[in-house]
Amino acid sequence: MTKASSSSAGAAAVVAFSLVARKARYSPFLLLSLLFMLLFSFLYGEELAALVGQRGRPHSSHLDVSVDGEHQQQPAETEDGLTKKQRWQGRLPFAVNEEDEDEECDVFSGSWVRDEEEAHPLYREEDCPYIQPQLTCQAQGRPDRGYQSWRWQPHDCTLPAFNATQMLETLRDKRMMFVGDSLNRGQFTSMVCLLNSVIPNPEAKSFHMSPDQQHTVFAARDYNATVEFYWAPFLLQSNADDAVLHKISDRTVRNGSIAHHGRHWEGVHVLVFNTYLWWCSGLRFRIMNGPIEEARKNETVWVSTEEAYGMAFRDLLQWVRDNMDYNSTRVFFTSMSPTHSKSQDWGDAPGGNCYNETAMIDDPEYWGTDSRRSVMRVIREILDGDGADVPLTFLNITQLSMYRKDAHTSIYKKQWNPLTPEQIADPRTYADCVHWCLPGLQDTWNELLYTKLFYP
Ligand SMILES: *[C@@H]1O[C@H](CO)[C@@H](O)[C@H](O)[C@H]1NC(C)=O
Ligand SMILES: *[C@@H]1O[C@H](CO)[C@@H](O)[C@H](O)[C@H]1NC(C)=O
Ligand SMILES: *[C@@H]1O[C@H](CO)[C@@H](O)[C@H](O)[C@H]1NC(C)=O
Ligand SMILES: *[C@@H]1O[C@H](CO)[C@@H](O)[C@H](O)[C@H]1NC(C)=O
Ligand SMILES: *[C@@H]1O[C@H](CO)[C@@H](O)[C@H](O)[C@H]1NC(C)=O
Ligand SMILES: *[C@@H]1O[C@H](CO)[C@@H](O)[C@H](O)[C@H]1NC(C)=O
Ligand SMILES: *[C@@H]1O[C@H](CO)[C@@H](O)[C@H](O)[C@H]1NC(C)=O
Repeated sequence: MTKASSSSAGAAAVVAFSLVARKARYSPFLLLSLLFMLLFSFLYGEELAALVGQRGRPHSSHLDVSVDGEHQQQPAETEDGLTKKQRWQGRLPFAVNEEDEDEECDVFSGSWVRDEEEAHPLYREEDCPYIQPQLTCQAQGRPDRGYQSWRWQPHDCTLPAFNATQMLETLRDKRMMFVGDSLNRGQFTSMVCLLNSVIPNPEAKSFHMSPDQQHTVFAARDYNATVEFYWAPFLLQSNADDAVLHKISDRTVRNGSIAHHGRHWEGVHVLVFNTYLWWCSGLRFRIMNGPIEEARKNETVWVSTEEAYGMAFRDLLQWVRDNMDYNSTRVFFTSMSPTHSKSQDWGDAPGGNCYNETAMIDDPEYWGTDSRRSVMRVIREILDGDGADVPLTFLNITQLSMYRKDAHTSIYKKQWNPLTPEQIADPRTYADCVHWCLPGLQDTWNELLYTKLFYP
C-alpha cells in the first residue's frame, strides 16, 4: 500500500494521548501514568494503537498502568467479566508486506471518489455469466450506470489494484469458501467474476451448484483452485438452512451446533463468513439447546438478539480454534450489510426507499436506523476480548456501504412472482433495498478482502 500521508510518531502520540485523556477521567495520577506510558512506547516502539485500545477503554475507571511490557500480554479480566485473551502473534500466511512494516492505515475509513482512471467497474456485467438474475441490474433494465464507477479511497493510504492473477496464484491447489447468507453469495459471485476475467478459456473453468443449492463451486482448472459458496444464513444449524425453501417466520437456531455445517468447511484455506440480517426478526430471538428436530415451543428459549448473535459468533470462533491452522489458513468475517428502506433516514420525505436513488449519501456520519450498532458492538467486544486469540480479519464494510443507497438492485432484478397492478403502480413497494447490483459495491468488498489478505 502506498501511504498518502505520513504521520510522525509525535503527532500520533499527541492524538493518542488526547484520545485517552478525553475518554478517561482526568486524575493527575492517570495523566502522569499515561505520560510515562508514552515515554516507554517511544523507547520500545510499542504500538500506540494497542496501548490505547487496552488502557484507554472507557470501562477502565481504575487504570492499572503498568510499564511492564509483559503485563499486557497476560489474559486479563475486563470489567464486564470477559476474559481478554492473548493476541495471536505469528505472521499471517499469504502476507506480502514486510514483517516489520508498520501498517497504520485503516482501510475501512475513507470516502468514495469517481474513478477517473476508469478501472471501475472491474468487469462488465455481460462478461460474467455467473451473476444470478437477481443481481444483473443492467440486463433487468436499470437505466443508469453511474453506481459502477466509484472507487473507495481510504483516508490514509490507497488500496492496491486487484490483481486477479496474483489471487489465483495464491489459491493454487487451494480452496476459498464464502459461508453465510445471500449477501455473502453476492460477494462470492463478485469474487468469481473478478477471477473469471483472467480465465478466458471456457475449458479452463467450471461452475456448479449442488441440487439442493446449498453449495456452489467455481473451479479454475489450471490453478487447481476453487472458490466456493456454502449457504448457512446463521452459520449454526437452523430451521432456515434449506437453500431453496428458507422463508421461515419463526426462526430457531441451535446453540453449539457449528459443526453441523462446519464439517463442510474443514480443510478450506481461506474462509469468509458473514451473518447478520437473518437475526433481525425483532428484539428477541429464539434459540434452543437440544436437537433441532425436537424444536417445540416448550423447549426453546428467547434471548436478546445481541445475546443470540454473540452465541453464534463465539461458536464460530471455537470452530476456528479447533479446525484451522493459523500458519497456513486465513479467516475473514464480513460485517453487516446495510439496507436502505427508509428515505427519512437520509432527510427525504417519508415513504421512499432506495427506489430511484442514483446518488450516494454524502454525510460521513450517516447511519441508517435499520442497522443495529449494538450487533456490531457484540463482534467488536468479542474480538477484543475472549476472541482476541483468533486471528480473524474483520472486514468492516458497514460504514462504507451505508453511503451507497444508489447501489441496490431495487426493482432491477428478476421477479419470481408476477407483479400485481398495485405493485406496478408504485414500484417502491417491491424495490429490493437489501441486495447489491453486480458489478458494483461488492467488488469493493473484495478489493478490501484482497488488501487484507496480502497486507494484513
Ligand atoms: C468500522 O469502520 C467505521 C469507519 O471507519 C468505524 O467508524 C467503526 O468504528 C468501525 N467499526 C468497528 C466495529 O470496527
Ligand atoms: C499480477 O500478479 C502477477 C502474478 O503475481 C504478476 O506477474 C503481474 O505482474 C501482476 N500484474 C500487475 C499489473 O501488477
Ligand atoms: C488440488 O487442490 C487440492 C486442494 O483443494 C489438493 O488437495 C490437491 O492435492 C491438489 N491437486 C494437486 C494435483 O496438486
Ligand atoms: C450456549 O451454550 C453454551 C455452552 O453450552 C452456554 O455456555 C451458553 O450459555 C449457551 N447460550 C445461550 C444463549 O443459551
Ligand atoms: C414439551 O411438549 C411436548 C409435547 O409437545 C411434551 O411431550 C414434552 O414433555 C414437553 N417438554 C417439556 C420440557 O415440558
Ligand atoms: C506455526 O508457526 C510457528 C512459528 O513458525 C510455530 O512455532 C508453530 O508451531 C506453528 N504452528 C503450527 C500449528 O504448525
Ligand atoms: C426519480 O427521481 C427523479 C429525480 O432524481 C425525479 O425527477 C423523478 O420524478 C423520480 N421518478 C419517480 C418515478 O419517482
